[in-house]
Amino acid sequence: MCGIIGVLGKSNVVPSLVGGLKRLEYRGYDSAGIATLCDGVLDRRRAEGKLKNLEAVLEGNGLNGMVGIGHTRWATHGVPNEANAHPHMTPRLALVHNGIIENYRELSAELENRNYTLESDTDTEVAAWLITSFLDDGKSPAEAMALSLKKFQGAFSLAVIFKGEEDLMIGARRGAPLAVGWGDGEMFVGSDALALAPLTNRISYLEEDDYVILSRDGATFFDETGAKVEREIKLTQLSGAMIGKGNHRHFMMKEIMEQPAVIGETLNSFFNPKTRTITLPDLPFDWRDIPKMTIVACGTSFYAGMVAKYWFETLAGLGVEVDIASEFRYRSMPLAPGGLALFISQSGETADTLAALRYARENGQHIASIVNVEESSMGRESDFVFHTKAGPEIGVASTKAFTCQLVTLACLAIDAGKQRGVLDHEREALLSAALSEVPARAAEILENDTNIRDLAAEIFEARDILYIGRGPGYPVAMEGALKLKELSYIHAEGYAAGELKHGPIALIDEAVPVIVVAPTDHYFEKTASNMQEVMARNAQVIFLSDAAGMKQLGEHALGSIELPTVDPFVAPILYSIPVQILAYHVAVLKGTDVDQPRNLAKSVTVE
Ligand code: AGP
Repeated sequence: MCGIIGVLGKSNVVPSLVGGLKRLEYRGYDSAGIATLCDGVLDRRRAEGKLKNLEAVLEGNGLNGMVGIGHTRWATHGVPNEANAHPHMTPRLALVHNGIIENYRELSAELENRNYTLESDTDTEVAAWLITSFLDDGKSPAEAMALSLKKFQGAFSLAVIFKGEEDLMIGARRGAPLAVGWGDGEMFVGSDALALAPLTNRISYLEEDDYVILSRDGATFFDETGAKVEREIKLTQLSGAMIGKGNHRHFMMKEIMEQPAVIGETLNSFFNPKTRTITLPDLPFDWRDIPKMTIVACGTSFYAGMVAKYWFETLAGLGVEVDIASEFRYRSMPLAPGGLALFISQSGETADTLAALRYARENGQHIASIVNVEESSMGRESDFVFHTKAGPEIGVASTKAFTCQLVTLACLAIDAGKQRGVLDHEREALLSAALSEVPARAAEILENDTNIRDLAAEIFEARDILYIGRGPGYPVAMEGALKLKELSYIHAEGYAAGELKHGPIALIDEAVPVIVVAPTDHYFEKTASNMQEVMARNAQVIFLSDAAGMKQLGEHALGSIELPTVDPFVAPILYSIPVQILAYHVAVLKGTDVDQPRNLAKSVTVE
């Protein structure tokens, strides 16, 4: 996805635009640019690569103006070079865009027939020229935008400024979020509230197919019919300070270290310390009436769903199908009428997951979601949304949001078990108590940082690394492998430990580290056998287990990470932390960009 910011200011807007792009860079960092209107003249600066390259350009060749827009890009159409960087301009306007205009070729042909010449190969420039063509036809900026929106197909959020219009900015959204910030005599737009946090805490969100006309006096919202609509002004809790790195070298390590606190914060939404029971708010469905649950997500969020499958099946006797969103929506899977579809997403904006949500709704499912970003599209389109309290997660590799998703899912599973009469009060008390201990146990695990860093030094030059686990440890192995590959660019795979003998064990030799996720649960003996199998083939094993497991197998491994002895129910939450830390230190040793790994973006709002 890309990041958009716009400022209708009372002074030179360039510092606010650059500051906003800094807070948006996690959304994509292939190129960046800003455009301003100064004394009636539109001008822009753009640069390939990270925002610091744009800052260098501005150092040498500054911009002024009290109206401006900015953009940080994750390339979809067109290579990430300067020519394809936003803002795109015509003689009459400058425009920034997040998303994809899917019918851009058809529109481009129409524009060429009108002798318009485009200079880039991006869908965004087509949007800029289409709006311009309506202006050339004598339409007002608002009319030109409304007419263009009717012709666009695909998902987008846009911000546009116009030559000669010193007190005007127009924004629009379809499938990609756009927020309006209310200032005092100035107004803002941004891809999310985080981008606007230091500028204002008064935020309105465009709804699907809205467009908005801004002046310094305020904002007027219109729906797709062109009718004026009201959009509530909400006070966001975000502040500029929440998005600093503190004394950490990277956002990712800051966010790993925040886990005890934010897991506790998330747990507090459901755990009653007095009765020591889990209590969920009233849900728009009855767990007893749910014949089957479908969990849909992408990437790390998908692995959270894989863990939850074990919990719902064992604690609530509820059958669960888990699928990745990009597959689910094209499967035509028979969905039981009255079933529950649960969508998990840190950003709440992932296009594949959002599309899957809409498919499930069309097929008569109850829709619930677990999201970390307040006011996300997924939350708005759900019958019920559970907000994880992880706070802003800036590192592209998800860490604290994942463990907060797991804690939320654990609470849902306990509630479902209770409501469905499968979980008795005694077992519920045991599980709830184990959950309440997770923040403290997580803090203990963070003290392993030095040991894990030393283990990272043993494996960071490997070309292939395997992660294995059983039961809920299997998705933890998958998540550990994803963390490692997306951060260090080393090829890593997570496997069900029992699956190794069906082929993957052919990969094993002394050059292949194997990370074994093995709490002493009822799978342990089997996993231990799998560990012996790979060690018999000279694999370098890093063994994750508790004291009892260490006693049995610890000394046979290249290295080990001893975790606290906990109820197996909460082990997947806690065993996710050392694999996060391991991936972090391997990436640091490899010298990759930990917070903004190559080719990635924090949330992929395109399919
Ligand atoms: C996780 O570390 C990755 N950045 C990625 O797999 C991510 O989990 C995935 O894109 C889903 O994002 P979401 O949770 O915002 O939907």
